[in-house]
Amino acid sequence: MQKILVQGGKPLHGDVRISGAKNAVLPILCAGLLADDVLRVSNVPRLHDVKTTLRLLGELGAGIAIDDAFNIRIDPRTVHSHVAPYELVKTMRASVLVLGPLLARYGAAEVSLPGGCAIGSRPIDQHIKGMQALGADISVDHGFIKASAKRLRGARVVFDMVSVGATENVLMAATLAEGRTVLENAAMEPEIIDLAVCLRAMGANIEGDGTGRIVVEGVERLHGAEHSVVPDRIETGTFLVAAAMTGGRITATHARPETLDAVIDKLKEAGAVIDCTDDSITLDMGGRRPHAVNLSTAPHPGFPTDMQAQFMAMNCIADGVGVMIETIFENRFMHVQELLRLGADIRVEGHTAIVRGVDKLSGAPVMATDLRASASLILAGLVADGETVIDRIYHLDRGYENIEAKLSALGAGIRRID
Ligand code: EPZ
Repeated sequence: MQKILVQGGKPLHGDVRISGAKNAVLPILCAGLLADDVLRVSNVPRLHDVKTTLRLLGELGAGIAIDDAFNIRIDPRTVHSHVAPYELVKTMRASVLVLGPLLARYGAAEVSLPGGCAIGSRPIDQHIKGMQALGADISVDHGFIKASAKRLRGARVVFDMVSVGATENVLMAATLAEGRTVLENAAMEPEIIDLAVCLRAMGANIEGDGTGRIVVEGVERLHGAEHSVVPDRIETGTFLVAAAMTGGRITATHARPETLDAVIDKLKEAGAVIDCTDDSITLDMGGRRPHAVNLSTAPHPGFPTDMQAQFMAMNCIADGVGVMIETIFENRFMHVQELLRLGADIRVEGHTAIVRGVDKLSGAPVMATDLRASASLILAGLVADGETVIDRIYHLDRGYENIEAKLSALGAGIRRID
């Protein structure tokens, strides 16, 4: 079992190149199933979840080719199965994103129910509601969603709550449905826009992506295309917080500042000086201690839930008290127990964590519980006295490409150990 060892106390300096967004590339790879021809995807991050998705597409029969630069070629012309097996879906919930494409392109799909995960039960009722609205017959038994439809018909779908995955699944299905589909209360995350950009390149007729109302005019077929994945705003935010916590100065290159407004505002509130160009963000903390910040997670363009754990690490050593409210997932404070082991002062009351900044954290062995929790433990280790050893870092490899290589290039004392 691999672990990561962090030696605290070194401010970060230098440039870090941001990779393609995990939460954009996963639905985009699944969108390859919709086409009659080859989809080429570039700027793909080398992540475990990407490899899992490619395995799933391969299981369905699609031809998968990966070149030395990790550009992906998906050839859907050999797809022969419409079943997403449990052993793959249980390791990655995003596997459910093959449901819409298989249903729309082949009229049939069987996808194992994903089950919960560490941060919450994460039901998929909104995905099912959307497919039924488009005319699919759906049954759920023996742990499988079984869906079929001669041809999906456009409809108005009003989501009960904002769901990134459900918006993506129904958006993909609607591209080949007959007639017009309107998605109301749709997610507005930048990853939805990136998926829509790719689908339009394939011939889809989509308007309103990035707003709460997306309108899709169904087309007969989608052709192949080439798409470069949008930079990962959560990876970007994670490195910016690392620089803010260590009092350093870094530049995130190949980034997209306009996808991070809420995060940049909060970092400025914490005392960081931030300058942006079209594709880079420079954060300068000038050796200062961050001020504590209050935040409440919300769907985009609000403060992203995927940055909550990282900001909690910053509040642990900030000047003052930060009140943090998690409104998206019911159990996304798993990192609190581990941060307490490092000497943090955090009190949790329901969906609210009250974090009183301490002068110093002290390094200790800790355990990662989910993807972003593992990132927050690394950030805490960067400022803790002595050594912090993080276990169960397979969580980390799902969402961060070579994070320890990127951090050590910025001056962090960090390495992977067996
Ligand atoms: C996506 O998950 C992201 N994952 C998550 O990132 C991210 O935290 C989340 O969106 C919110 O931004 C990918 O894109 C692969 P949701 P998703 O559907 O689509 C409830 C990371 O760290 N809900 O927007 O699964 C759900 O339980 C990961 O990169 C239903 O009740 O999230 C949650 O409380 C973690 N029924 C809320 O909605 C449904 O049918 C938002 O979930 C669907 C969702």
